[in-house]
Amino acid sequence: MNSVTTYALITGGSQGLGKAIAEILASKGINLILVALPEKSLQETANHIKEKFAVDVQIIGIDLTESHAAQKVFDFVRTNNLKVRYLINNAGIGYTESFEKLPFSFIDKLLKINVLSVTQLTHLFIPLLTENAPAYILNIASMAGLFTMPYKTAYSASKHYVVEFSLALREELKSKNINVTVVCPGGMTTNAEVLERINQMGKLGNILTASPELVAQVAISAMFARKSLVVPKWQIRWYSYLRWIFPKTWQAKIIARALRKKLI
Ligand SMILES: NC(=O)c1ccc[n+]([C@@H]2O[C@H](COP(=O)([O-])OP(=O)(O)OC[C@H]3O[C@@H](n4cnc5c(N)ncnc54)[C@H](OP(=O)(O)O)[C@@H]3O)[C@@H](O)[C@H]2O)c1
Repeated sequence: MNSVTTYALITGGSQGLGKAIAEILASKGINLILVALPEKSLQETANHIKEKFAVDVQIIGIDLTESHAAQKVFDFVRTNNLKVRYLINNAGIGYTESFEKLPFSFIDKLLKINVLSVTQLTHLFIPLLTENAPAYILNIASMAGLFTMPYKTAYSASKHYVVEFSLALREELKSKNINVTVVCPGGMTTNAEVLERINQMGKLGNILTASPELVAQVAISAMFARKSLVVPKWQIRWYSYLRWIFPKTWQAKIIARALRKKLI
């Protein structure tokens, strides 16, 4: 496998988990294409990685919720003849709030980034990944994709989509030597908004939280080991097994009770 000329495309690669994944791949000599909003942080992350590791780092500053954004990303890669072997669908947004109080513009944005962009990028890149096989798709879902979570209703539904999409596609792409792995992190200490949500959950929030560096490490190892689904950090993994004990209706009741208290 020639890693010198192959690239990993990472959405949401400017900060948080995406940045942590980018650093690990760069440390393995894999070139990067970082996709994020056209903010200063994108160029800063690219410069930081280039200073630390001998890899090429391309950036695409784009709002993935815009129509044709996925096509523009793909066109950039084709025009520059970048050999993508790894597609990391990481960008995503979340919330904790009652569904009816959310402005619909936010729900629309969430579905576009968490569901539509993941699906469209994957669809566009399959031919390129096939050319560069053995290839890998790493999709970032969430524990909210395993449990039924009121007050994270649209987020939880979007991450269920990512889990089911990944597990099913995995079987379809095996014959092309493209592996699909889906990662379901608990809380991650990535940005101020998420930290506030984790703190709202108290002690349990801390137990069910991991650093983005740990999650990135587990995710990349799982991807190279061609695992199907992984939950990083053993305490969170054990907690995730409760989904097989409690029916979905019970999960919804228990989680609603816990989150309702935090929202009042
Ligand atoms: N944090 C958690 O507790 C947690 C838990 C479970 C799962 N996850 C999932 O893990 C993934 C990463 O989360 P994170 O906490 O690392 O996120 P984060 O720190 O908020 O970073 C989000 C990344 O996505 C980019 N992004 C956001 N909106 C975008 C848009 N419209 N178009 C293009 N790029 C956009 C951001 O770019 P800018 O830097 O330009 O803003 C940034 O690079 C997400 O899929 C999330 O759902 C997170």
